Amino acid sequence: MFDWTAYQKRVEWYQEARFGMFIHWGLYAIPARGEWVRSVEQMPEEEYLPFFEEFDPVDFDPRKWARAAREAGMRYAVLTAKHHDGFCLFDSALTDFKSTNTKAGRDLVAEYLEAFRAEGLKVGLYYSLLDWHHPDYPHYGDQNHPLRNCPEEKNEGRDFSRYLEYMHGQVRELCTNYGKLDIMWFDFSYGDLRGEAWKATELVRMVRSLQPDVIIDNRLEVSGEGFGSIATDSPNEYSGDFVSPEQIIPPYGLKSESGRDLVWEACVTMNDHWGYCAKDTHFKPAPMLIRKLVECVSKNGNMLLNVGPDAKGNIPEESLRILSGIGHWMKRNSASVYGCAASGLPKPENGRITRNGNRLYYHITEGNIGGIPLYGISKDRIKYIRLLADGSELAVSSSWETNNYPDIVFVNVSNGPCLPDETDTVVEVVLKE
Ligand code: GLC
Repeated sequence: MFDWTAYQKRVEWYQEARFGMFIHWGLYAIPARGEWVRSVEQMPEEEYLPFFEEFDPVDFDPRKWARAAREAGMRYAVLTAKHHDGFCLFDSALTDFKSTNTKAGRDLVAEYLEAFRAEGLKVGLYYSLLDWHHPDYPHYGDQNHPLRNCPEEKNEGRDFSRYLEYMHGQVRELCTNYGKLDIMWFDFSYGDLRGEAWKATELVRMVRSLQPDVIIDNRLEVSGEGFGSIATDSPNEYSGDFVSPEQIIPPYGLKSESGRDLVWEACVTMNDHWGYCAKDTHFKPAPMLIRKLVECVSKNGNMLLNVGPDAKGNIPEESLRILSGIGHWMKRNSASVYGCAASGLPKPENGRITRNGNRLYYHITEGNIGGIPLYGISKDRIKYIRLLADGSELAVSSSWETNNYPDIVFVNVSNGPCLPDETDTVVEVVLKE
């Protein structure tokens, strides 16, 4: 049975936090063509194993990652403990295919958790349900397996229940050996492999018994495609807690069938790949990502922004620059993000609105000739208006230019023709209680 009270309680911090860092890191950082490289190139494992022999992230220092995340204004992080290739960044007793057996010789998950907790961030682990290393995972004819087209890899003798035992065992290890986890991010379901095919009820019961407050994504049922039963009024026990739209911000936010606001998190890459991709320079500029974060919040969602550290363990320079650009804005304006949600007002034509209680945050992204119209509120409801970035007073303008529009509140935010912050100038409107 789905426990609504427990649910509301556990997602509270998560909806306050709004902004997190996704980290895709593993052996695939060496070929540097993204984390699907084995599948995309249908690469046999003997061509992949040399990366296991070679893996030696000499610059790995998760304290640097954690600092970059915190300074960008992120409040939580999710690291790939195991991705589809099956390589584990943690010291699992159930496999040899793990970081402790590489030149790294360390439990990278443990170090990540320690570093991020030390920066005051909530911590999550991504765990792939798919596993292209495990002999009992379907090979031939599977939709994604690197050897899907190799009839000689037929599945006779493969025992999926043995794989499930392994997978459940690893999840148990993660939930037992590493202290409090705030998020478990399973990835992903497809075809017949969904829900009880993963023994999901048993799995989720185990996770919740070991980590009573943990938040779980919806991918024991779906992938980036589909919403899962959390979007219905009778979720399964293993529905998870949030919807995980991938590489898209839902046009109108997300509601359940009966109109309940759903908890959701858009996961988004900074360039076009999750795992490190040397040639991919399609980075989204910081101003755009700031606006996209605000868009998520204005629609009741979170944004989980990805970085793909390279083979040596460094977050790419360009990603760091972008993070610091976001951080620069967040330092002055994060009150319009944390703890904020949809405003209940229609989206204004000059930006977006987020809201925290009696505070409305007008995110102005388009300047105006003359005063800036704050759509959707009336003068008599306003206690005061401030420029969020510096706390300075903004007066409601009343002049012959605006007098023709008595129903609309106008403010002047700068003397010049341009917005004080071209990315997003935040006008804070405090309403009378
Ligand atoms: C996917 C991909 C993957 C990535 C993830 C992030 O479904 O398989 O590589 O880790 O989504 O959301």
